[in-house]
Amino acid sequence: MKDLAGKIAFVTGAASGIGLGIATALAQAGVKVMLCDIEEAALAAAVEGLKRTNADVASVRADVSLKVELQAAAEEARARYGGVHILINNAGVGGGGPYGTWNDAGWNWTLDVNLRAVVWGIEIFAPMIESHGGGHIVSTASIAGLISAGSSPYSVTKYGVVALSEGLRRELGPRGIGVSVLCPGVIRTNIMNSRRNLPERFASVTAAPPLDDAQRERVNQLAERVSHGIDPLYVGELVREGIENDWPYIFTDCEFEPMIEARFAEIKRGFDRIRDRKARR
Ligand SMILES: NC(=O)c1ccc[n+]([C@@H]2O[C@H](COP(=O)([O-])OP(=O)(O)OC[C@H]3O[C@@H](n4cnc5c(N)ncnc54)[C@H](O)[C@@H]3O)[C@@H](O)[C@H]2O)c1
Repeated sequence: MKDLAGKIAFVTGAASGIGLGIATALAQAGVKVMLCDIEEAALAAAVEGLKRTNADVASVRADVSLKVELQAAAEEARARYGGVHILINNAGVGGGGPYGTWNDAGWNWTLDVNLRAVVWGIEIFAPMIESHGGGHIVSTASIAGLISAGSSPYSVTKYGVVALSEGLRRELGPRGIGVSVLCPGVIRTNIMNSRRNLPERFASVTAAPPLDDAQRERVNQLAERVSHGIDPLYVGELVREGIENDWPYIFTDCEFEPMIEARFAEIKRGFDRIRDRKARR
């Protein structure tokens, strides 16, 4: 999509962090943006801030982990702007911990917000985008969607978003819809405080077994890194460039490239092992 001015975007998780950065960067390019989020007060503040810059923006509250609420939000976008060209499936939570601290609520909350809502977003919006002459879908995964540092539900959902995006890119391209997956590194957002938006039905996530000292120390270190992370508006600008140039993968930096290369090398060694084994027989 080369000319974004005048186009219409729907952004989930738009009240904070990366979603707000993307909404801002798109609005600055003249895109009309429907911001969607579960957190009403933050959403109102985000829209007010953007309107002060003369951006054409509106908001709709929805818990994206409920399909009916996402459907209703899509209808509001259609009513307000007549359709959608760009979908940003970005809402996400850092829910659930590693093996030993799992519980069903942690898995369900993380799977529903980070993965099922992305599936539903595509189901609901792709036909709207297609009937509107084509457009682009960006889904926010993570570097944790390409390298798994632990067994937390988070990484599992992010691998899912990468797989979904890679497959959809082949299927939706011929229908005039570009598909990108955003894999951020460490970004300065409120992700470490995801439980502020914990829907009541997942409340028992708080009853999961506690982290041990080493696990808690790792979380503290990550929180420290996030507090000094990359500016979310810069991520938004990269997303805008990724849409304009139809990038399959949108990265924010190269910090984790060596770890991804190490993973590829391990996979390659797996094939080499089988090749050598066959040659020996
Ligand atoms: N911050 C990072 O370092 C980082 C790195 C990689 C990927 N990500 C991903 O970026 C995305 C955005 O997260 P962020 O870091 O900006 O965090 P954030 O907490 O600042 O923003 C997330 C937004 O999603 C909203 N949200 C949460 N649950 C929701 C629900 N059920 N329905 C609707 N909205 C909901 C929140 O209210 C919030 O506004 C997530 O998918 C996250 O996994 C973040």
